[in-house]
Amino acid sequence: MEPARGRVAFAYDRTRYHPPEVSGRIATAITAPVERRFRDPHFLELGVGTGRIGVPVLARGFRFTAVDNDPAMLEVFRYKIAGVNRKVQVVEADVRELPFEKGRFHAVLSVHLWHLIPDWQRALLEAIRVLAPQGFLFEGWDEGVGESEDWRIQEVWREILKSRGFELKRGRHKARLMEVEKALRKLGLEPETQVAAEWDEERTPRQSLEAIEERLYSFTHQVPEPVFRESVEELYRWARATYADLDQPMPIRWRFMLRTTAL
Ligand SMILES: C[S@@+](CC[C@H](N)C(=O)[O-])C[C@H]1O[C@@H](n2cnc3c(N)ncnc32)[C@H](O)[C@@H]1O
Repeated sequence: MEPARGRVAFAYDRTRYHPPEVSGRIATAITAPVERRFRDPHFLELGVGTGRIGVPVLARGFRFTAVDNDPAMLEVFRYKIAGVNRKVQVVEADVRELPFEKGRFHAVLSVHLWHLIPDWQRALLEAIRVLAPQGFLFEGWDEGVGESEDWRIQEVWREILKSRGFELKRGRHKARLMEVEKALRKLGLEPETQVAAEWDEERTPRQSLEAIEERLYSFTHQVPEPVFRESVEELYRWARATYADLDQPMPIRWRFMLRTTAL
């Protein structure tokens, strides 16, 4: 079951927060090669969401087009860009059918998106169609480094679900990234992956529990309501017995991976 989309839009930045200096580093990793190759480049972001990646890019004054099919996400995005850059176009559309002519953009960004689209091949071909010759496709994702309490809490929840007969499927995102890379190579392209930024976050067990309880991650959507409620109650009982203080911050190490494909 998916939660109301508006609620996720307002909570999204909380689960995948980038400190300002990290946002800056990611924006530089994206914009530097494009600026070297093109004068006055035009960026397109697919599934822009709340603009976590896009806002730091467009704040540097570039032409920027943002696409998403969720009006609630675009609403949050519009709040963030008000007064920041007048060269931004916001388009509500499906990335599998982009309303743009061939070769219009110098760079296309896609972050945490492919795994949400069952027929992602259509979206990938659209991304390539709207790219100018020698343009760049940037794919990005956050990944945890090593094990954290946040990860442990998610794993305990998975075990609880298993004991109740529900097998939680995870790893869809990573698997999809590999499929996309294969497809790019089949087209004769050469994607290259780098660590664009690495940082530490403090998160309390309560925040980790609430992110599951509020179904903020897409992997929580597959669990049907009654088993979901009961499993979350059991997870809270486990957490209260395990942590002396649910509000004691614990470290998580993150990195942002950027895969660059030059046409
Ligand atoms: C997980 S969020 C990532 C947002 C942003 N890229 C980021 O990393 O912060 C995925 C976004 O893609 C959008 N989305 C999913 N499927 C889409 C589709 N077929 N067409 C357009 N947008 C889509 C969702 O509405 C959501 O805003």
